[in-house]
Amino acid sequence: MAISFTLHATDGAARAGTVHTPHGDVSTPAFMPVGTQGTVKGLTPEMVRDAGAHILLGNTYHLALRPGDEIVRDLGGLHTFMNWNRPILTDSGGFQVFSLAGQVKITDHGAKFKSHIDGSPLELTPERAVEIQQNLGSDIAMVLDECPPADGAPEVIRRAVTRSIKWAERCKRHHSRPDQAQFAIVQGGLNLDLRAECAKELVAMDFPGYALGGFSVGEAPEAMHAALPACAACLPEHKPRYLMGVGRPQDLLAGVASGIDMFDCVMPTRNGRNALAFTDEGPVRLRNAKHRRDPKPLMSGCGCYCCANYSRGYLHHLFAAEEMLGPTLLSLHNISFYLNLMAGARDAIRAGRFAEFRAGCLARWTPAS
Ligand code: GUN
Ligand code: ZN
Repeated sequence: MAISFTLHATDGAARAGTVHTPHGDVSTPAFMPVGTQGTVKGLTPEMVRDAGAHILLGNTYHLALRPGDEIVRDLGGLHTFMNWNRPILTDSGGFQVFSLAGQVKITDHGAKFKSHIDGSPLELTPERAVEIQQNLGSDIAMVLDECPPADGAPEVIRRAVTRSIKWAERCKRHHSRPDQAQFAIVQGGLNLDLRAECAKELVAMDFPGYALGGFSVGEAPEAMHAALPACAACLPEHKPRYLMGVGRPQDLLAGVASGIDMFDCVMPTRNGRNALAFTDEGPVRLRNAKHRRDPKPLMSGCGCYCCANYSRGYLHHLFAAEEMLGPTLLSLHNISFYLNLMAGARDAIRAGRFAEFRAGCLARWTPAS
């Protein structure tokens, strides 16, 4: 087995554990910074490591198009290529095809699309998604799935579930790398019966871990929060559970409370590049002129490199002058904020006070009116 999962403590449905991988351990609940193109945008691996990341997410779709998965393989695999010696999880590419490529045609065989880089026609099949990820050499690979939109018609959601189950079977059959684990992805939108049915089929196939896909695709956050406990409860207790592409800090806490172990999201890095910081007092917009003469750090009590060394006034200046260091420092603070949030959640679960921890965070983040 490429990975194993140890459950250390539970508090209600929330869990604290460790995922053991060929490149080291991941403490859960875990947040995975996104390194789409073989880099967490604007940050060196050393910065990401010092911020406390145990694992990164990489993307099949982007790396297969550029530089090409065989080039990454020949240059030593993704860990060596990007100089990140810790665990990596790669997404299978289906989701990115739907969101980035031009016209996409999905059949039972796979997804036909045009490259967003040069418009060339390509097809991503379950077998090809497995091959790409085996060439990249990630510790955890994801099966190819079909992620329907939140407002998809019932028959569209049903077809995505049926297809995702068949594709998971094909991915499992094609997978052969002993030092890589393959996780399945549950779809079904907000239909809990479909979610349960999809989970049942995939659990019977005995994957080493399970993801919930198809969330944060346009539904109200409250609808996702309401669906998560039942969805997580359909998954095996002794395997890791991963909520894909979610979300805001309050969404991660809702996920943890529901029994989710792993998360990834572009929000901390994307928002950081756009001068939006996550803090204990809620979001802070550094472009706002009110920060111009502010000598205080972005967030008092934050131990990150940005907050330890720079003022809000300086950060405001960097964004006003469009200097590269602005996005770098805010991305660093934001991933530190997400990683510290997960570390706080782990401590709270082990101490049996996760509900209080969550309530305290939510009260702080919602500015009193
Ligand atoms: N990232 C965010 N949501 C999804 C999903 O539903 N499927 C996949 N493969 N990746 C995702
Ligand atoms: Zn900070």
